[in-house]
Amino acid sequence: MSDLTFEIQSHPAPRTAEERAALMANPGFGKVFTDHMVVARYTAGRGWHDARIQAREAIPLDPASAVLHYAQEIFEGLKAYRTADGGAALFRPDANARRFRHSAERLAIPPFPEDAFVDAVRKLVEIDRAWIPDTPDGSLYLRPFMIATEAFLGVRPASEYLFITIASAVGSYFKDPNSTVTVWVSEHYTRAAPGGTGAAKCGGNYAASLAPQSEAAAQGCEQVVFLDAVERRYIEELGGMNVFFVFEDGTLVTPPLSDSILHGITRDSVITLAREAGLTVKEEPYTIDAWRTDVREDRLTEAFACGTAAVITPIGTVKGREESFTIGNGKAGPVAQRLRSLLVDIQRGNTNDAHGWFQKI
Ligand code: PLP
Ligand code: COI
Repeated sequence: MSDLTFEIQSHPAPRTAEERAALMANPGFGKVFTDHMVVARYTAGRGWHDARIQAREAIPLDPASAVLHYAQEIFEGLKAYRTADGGAALFRPDANARRFRHSAERLAIPPFPEDAFVDAVRKLVEIDRAWIPDTPDGSLYLRPFMIATEAFLGVRPASEYLFITIASAVGSYFKDPNSTVTVWVSEHYTRAAPGGTGAAKCGGNYAASLAPQSEAAAQGCEQVVFLDAVERRYIEELGGMNVFFVFEDGTLVTPPLSDSILHGITRDSVITLAREAGLTVKEEPYTIDAWRTDVREDRLTEAFACGTAAVITPIGTVKGREESFTIGNGKAGPVAQRLRSLLVDIQRGNTNDAHGWFQKI
């Protein structure tokens, strides 16, 4: 247990209920921020200190801060949900705390204590609970992150860091939550290589995904499918979500975890729920050629993306430089829909949770 406790400093005053309601009427994703943020500092030799919950505000940064030059940064993404009784709940925050520690290790950042991570997130949800949307697709997206703040231009791990958690009232990540997405198979760009940072949730991975993401958008696609960096054949994941394939016999396939794939908490939850529902789930390599052929020969009936932001989003069409193909009739399939209901019902406390994933606030 860490002895980090968060002092509350709530000035200036939070926005009024009317201001909040206007902002939350149509929040989209990642644009509407709450009144508070959690902050803690790290100094080499002293450890983590000055933990507090304060009014959300801009942060002063020295222009030589290491994060601005060498991208020594990591982040997390998790959601708080409004429950039917008007309460609030988190989904597996301990898993995010663990992954945050692993990301810290890969980026040579001093780990943030896992219990303090969960405490920070809980306290922020408590103080900003009025910002949790009560719409079916709405939630409070929590974004803990850490940055290297030491003013030093030599290349080595910094000696000073800032831990911050901000929160954003969100609707669905994709414009139409009831539709499927079209994905672009990136042939030129890869996301992560063996031995690289693909399994860490660090900003650099996302910076590198923006050019392929722009290429995808220019082709009318919402997400990029990244192939492995060695053979350029195996499907790894999408720019911001993991991927599953559903076969006509009900078997699910998802790429196996490696150091070039983000170890998604939704992915892990879907595997568990699918197995409990009697489906066979295989974590095994799957190639882009097999995907094309299995669709053409009607062996593959569905594919879906999953992640905290995306929840479970069915993939309708796959586009590449040479050709494109549509999965089934291009609409959401029954397996993705069923798994989504199983997951969302646990997240929102509508069903009994046998796994200890649902954590009431
Ligand atoms: N893969 C990438 C690259 C992501 O950014 C995310 C989102 O966090 C995921 C997968 C899914 O992870 P999780 O389910 O933990 O949100
Ligand atoms: C998340 O799902 O939490 C992510 O970080 C993905 C990003 C596309 C928002």
